[in-house]
Parts: sequence; C-alpha cells; structure tokens
Amino acid sequence: MGHENRSALIVGASRGLGLGVVQALMARGWDVTATARGPAPGLDGLEPAPRIERVDIDDDAAVARLAETLAGRRFDVVFIVAGVATEAHVPVPQGSRASALKVFETNAISPIRAAEALVPRVAPGGLVVLMSSILGSVGANESGGWESYRASKAGLNTLARSFEVRHRDAPFGVVLLHPGWVRTDMGGPEADIDVATSAAGMAEVLERRLGQKGCVYLDYRGETLPW
Ligand SMILES: NC(=O)c1ccc[n+]([C@@H]2O[C@H](COP(=O)([O-])OP(=O)(O)OC[C@H]3O[C@@H](n4cnc5c(N)ncnc54)[C@H](OP(=O)(O)O)[C@@H]3O)[C@@H](O)[C@H]2O)c1
Repeated sequence: MGHENRSALIVGASRGLGLGVVQALMARGWDVTATARGPAPGLDGLEPAPRIERVDIDDDAAVARLAETLAGRRFDVVFIVAGVATEAHVPVPQGSRASALKVFETNAISPIRAAEALVPRVAPGGLVVLMSSILGSVGANESGGWESYRASKAGLNTLARSFEVRHRDAPFGVVLLHPGWVRTDMGGPEADIDVATSAAGMAEVLERRLGQKGCVYLDYRGETLPW
C-alpha cells in the first residue's frame, strides 16, 4: 500500500535506528523531515535527501526553535527516537549520580518535553511516537542489569501515559515502541536483528496504528508488551 501523502518528523536520526526509520519510511513513500544534533553524514548521504533540521532534545530553546521553524507543517507521525545508554552496565549505587540523572533527562524528561512542544505539529489522526524499550517494562524485568537505562525508559513509559491522558481530547494517539534488540552503536554487534529489519517493522506498525487514539506499548512486530 502506498503512503505518498504521509509525512513524518524523526527526531534523533543521525545514525542507528533514527536513520533507519528515515530510510524505511522514505522507501514506503513518506515525506520525511529528520533531525540531528550535530554532524550527520548518514543523513547527508541519503538519496533522495530528507529535509534535515538541527536539535538537541536536552535543549528546550532548541526544541522551541524547531517547533517554530516547522510552524505551518503537520506530520502524521512525530517520532522521538533519540536516547542514550551511558554507564548502562554500572549498577546505580556504584555509578555516578550525574550520569544516571543525565540518562533520565535524555531518555524520559526530554522526549516528553519535545513531544509537548511538537503537539501543534501533529496532524489529525496522527501519532506521537516515543522510542521506548522492553527494558522499560517493570513487569518483564526478571534479569536486572542496565539499571539507569531501564529506569529511564520505565519513566518514559509512565510520562507517555500521563501525556496521553492530558491530550485525550486531541485527535492523535501515542505509541511507545520497542525496536527489538538491534545492532547499532547502542545495541552492539551481538544484538538479534539489523537496523533495516527493525525499522521496516516499526514503519509497518506505525502505518497500521494511524488514526487510532490511546497509548499503546508495542514492539517492532506489533506485539503488545507488558507494562
Ligand atoms: N539498539 C537497540 O537494541 C535498542 C533497543 C531498545 C531501544 N533502543 C532505543 O532506540 C533509540 C535509538 O537507539 P540506537 O540503538 O539507534 O542508538 P545509537 O546508535 O546510539 O543512536 C542514538 C541516537 O540518539 C541521538 N541522541 C542522543 N542524545 C541526543 C540528544 N540529547 N538530542 C538529540 N539526539 C540525541 C544520537 O545522536 P548523535 O549522533 O548526535 O550522538 C543518535 O542519533 C534510543 O532511544 C534507544 O534507547 C535501542
């Protein structure tokens, strides 16, 4: 099915999954605007080129400037992909307090603040999409590890549910996505799947979810995950 008239804003697309989602949606005929916070040779090299904007999601002023730059545009999907996993292997009591707080800022606080700033840019029937992780599932945490990262994504999930409640009268839905365990700089070379597989799956899931409200927590195959 063609989606030539669909448009997406992908925030945090310099490399890894964000770049993959840009490519997957463009391959499916979507009109894509991508953001990076710094140099993004992967994005610059795409043919045809997406529209590229600059934003660091931890910088409220930069996010406000992005929203302003895009004034008048409406996107079927606004997808905040950016995230970090600094000191992920260090248990919280042994790691640096500043590092754990920064992970929480970038993975939980900043995506929700960016989503809020970009609400006016979401088309009726569209989706606000937040890159979560199965590691954000409190119920599925039987193995421990990745402590500050897990907590940040659990925090993102909780904030996304509250965001959806606040905007329940608005004509868009909220999706928390787990991309699978993917071979990126963050996921590492041992991960289960490649970026193209994950990104194609997520694109399919989002196309199917368009026009639906509520807040759902899905993986790249469309499976519902436990909170
Ligand atoms: N890979 C996996 O297996 C996996 C599994 C579950 C969830 N995820 C999630 O998927 C998302 C993408 O992960 P990835 O695997 O593609 O990681 P990655 O290869 O490390 O890429 C991270 C991306 O986030 C951007 N970013 C980080 N902090 C940012 C900020 N403050 N403002 C704007 N952009 C920022 C990076 O930009 P720069 O290039 O400028 O650093 C880069 O584009 C993350 O939210 C991650 O938690 C990944």
